[in-house]
Amino acid sequence: MSYAIQTKVTEMLGIEYPIIQGCMQWIARACLVGAVSEAGGLGVLSSSTHRTAEDLRAEIRKVKKITSKPFAVNITLLPSLYVPDYDGFIRVCGEEGVKIIETAGRIPSDAMIAKFKEYGMIWSHKCTITKHAQKAEKAGCDLIVADGFECAGHPGENDIGTMVLTTRCVEQLHVPVITAGGVGTGRQMAAALMLGAQGVYMGTRFLLSEECPVLDSLKRHLAENTNELDTILLLRSYVNTTRAYKSEMAKSVLAREKQGLPFDAVAEDMSGIKAQELFFENGDYDHCGTICLGQVTGVIHDVLPVRQIIEDTMRECVETIRSFQV
Ligand SMILES: Cc1cc2nc3c(=O)[nH]c(=O)nc-3n(C[C@H](O)[C@H](O)[C@H](O)COP(=O)(O)O)c2cc1C
Repeated sequence: MSYAIQTKVTEMLGIEYPIIQGCMQWIARACLVGAVSEAGGLGVLSSSTHRTAEDLRAEIRKVKKITSKPFAVNITLLPSLYVPDYDGFIRVCGEEGVKIIETAGRIPSDAMIAKFKEYGMIWSHKCTITKHAQKAEKAGCDLIVADGFECAGHPGENDIGTMVLTTRCVEQLHVPVITAGGVGTGRQMAAALMLGAQGVYMGTRFLLSEECPVLDSLKRHLAENTNELDTILLLRSYVNTTRAYKSEMAKSVLAREKQGLPFDAVAEDMSGIKAQELFFENGDYDHCGTICLGQVTGVIHDVLPVRQIIEDTMRECVETIRSFQV
């Protein structure tokens, strides 16, 4: 029995299943991205993981060695400790024939958008309120990822939950909408499709996958010992809200924020250097760096191969929808 579902998103992106892997800085590298695309979803490579455009080019070429299927590159336009070489990243994507570009955070500049169009890319924009989605649509984007408040990473400053955000975006936009934030199972995917979404986008679920390059001990800890109460909102006082695992380190960052200290007081603990040590070297979540994590961690209990995640999600989604047919 086939568990495929054709939607505007599978059609537009040329993928088998309407399941997209969330971009994750330092983590969404070729091994994960290639595995997701090869299994029939859409892998999304993180550009800001790379210091230079040439490093990104090398990573894109690694993806192409793993899969000949479509994949995307994400450009995250959020406040960061150093300014990435956005123009270089976009140029390299164009030169390497990347067909799908995803932006997140600010709406890209007119010059960036012109480059996406010049290279013939499909442009997807991830946002957390309908107003920004409408602005991106007006600027020419082809797809919207609606990232609700439950999400890992940056839920924005308006706290709009996934259920309402998807519904509002579907109601207000002409371009297809993809639901993000809190999706980790087939039943949740079915719910998103019922709201009118044309696909789902999962970060935390793919963080806790075998092909994710993070230390196995850390992935297992998060999969086996956390629930929906174990995330915390950081950096709200600096208008850069970030949902992370509620570790001792995250609680200490929040305590410093509550004292009204400037960003410098938390910068080192929120830095990429510390995050990379945590992810790839020591796994010491209580003392070294912080890790973005979504509330959906409450429904994820195991670290699974990417192919199994996609197939289980599709099967559960299709069976759920079929069970309601009258
Ligand atoms: C460890 C981690 C790192 C992330 N880094 C980024 C990033 O660099 N850029 C971005 O647009 N989103 C980033 N995100 C957010 C995801 O792409 C996605 O929007 C979010 O995880 C969706 O919510 P979910 O975790 O409930 O599936 C990150 C998420 C995680 C778990």
